[in-house]
Amino acid sequence: MTKATALAHPNIALVKYWGKRDQRLNLPASASLSLTLAGMETRTSVEFDEALEGDLVELNGVLLTHAHNLQRVTAFLDRVREMSGRRRFARVQTHNNFPTSAGLASSASAFAALALAASAAADLELSASELSVLARLGSGSAARSIFGGFAEMKVGHRPDGQDSFAVGLADEAHWDLRCLVAITAHGEKAIGSTDGMLQTMSSSPYYDPWIAHVPGDIEAARQAIAARDFEALGVVAERSCLRMHASALAADPGILYWNPTTVRLIHGVRLARAQGLPVFFTIDAGPHVKVFCPANERAACETILRDVEGVLDVLSTRPGPGAHLLDERL
Ligand code: PMV
Repeated sequence: MTKATALAHPNIALVKYWGKRDQRLNLPASASLSLTLAGMETRTSVEFDEALEGDLVELNGVLLTHAHNLQRVTAFLDRVREMSGRRRFARVQTHNNFPTSAGLASSASAFAALALAASAAADLELSASELSVLARLGSGSAARSIFGGFAEMKVGHRPDGQDSFAVGLADEAHWDLRCLVAITAHGEKAIGSTDGMLQTMSSSPYYDPWIAHVPGDIEAARQAIAARDFEALGVVAERSCLRMHASALAADPGILYWNPTTVRLIHGVRLARAQGLPVFFTIDAGPHVKVFCPANERAACETILRDVEGVLDVLSTRPGPGAHLLDERL
């Protein structure tokens, strides 16, 4: 095979990843736990071609020319070329059906889809853990999007990162939740997650305490998921989100991903919960708010979010499958 197409969904972390123990290999400083989301997706096709003199990468129909973004993809493809022992350049076409680089986890679905499409096009037969290791080299959170449903990223201990991959905890059929994504801004976020993490690690006095609390949150989240205990999962997810942001806020200079609408949504979710609606929020490295509720409360929850001043749109997602190959052309 020289060409393959893969589809992957983003995932949203319920126990956050925020800190690296190795920057080059994207090795996390702590474990994390997520839910893969259907309703948002990346489709990527990769074709290796002897005739190409360099990698050609198209995102949503536009050729990537920005050196940093292109270099990130090329470095990733170099790893695939190294693994396959063949030095051919690739034509990559990728489409996201949701905003890119806005804190909506586009790098997670992007590198999960690229890992699967590129490894298949290069005839590498990788296990799920090997694919997860490969995806991690592109973006730490991408390692989790290899799996459907709930996934846990293992922190691992080896310096080469071979034991730092995600594992599936429960598939997408385990729990019929909804995750509503309240969009609060247009455009790209000001500070990417890698830079945000580095700044937090190097200057936040709250970084070490943040990392120290993650194992307890992982255990609590695992138990809540196994028992389908919505309230318990909400407690751990909000706590992990707020502690991650607290560690970033305490960096020097402080990193603030939120806008006024983000804060209004936090209050709105907490008020709705106080009034009896089962609902909780989480926020990644951006201004949007992801709100979880049981499937039967989706409409009520969406109405509340749309009423919050400054909310531009609400995307509705649900537990989704892991990265998989498609046999059609893009
Ligand atoms: O995968 P990265 O390097 O884009 O980092 C993801 C960081 C967060 O989205 C904020 C948290 C997470 O665990 O996904």
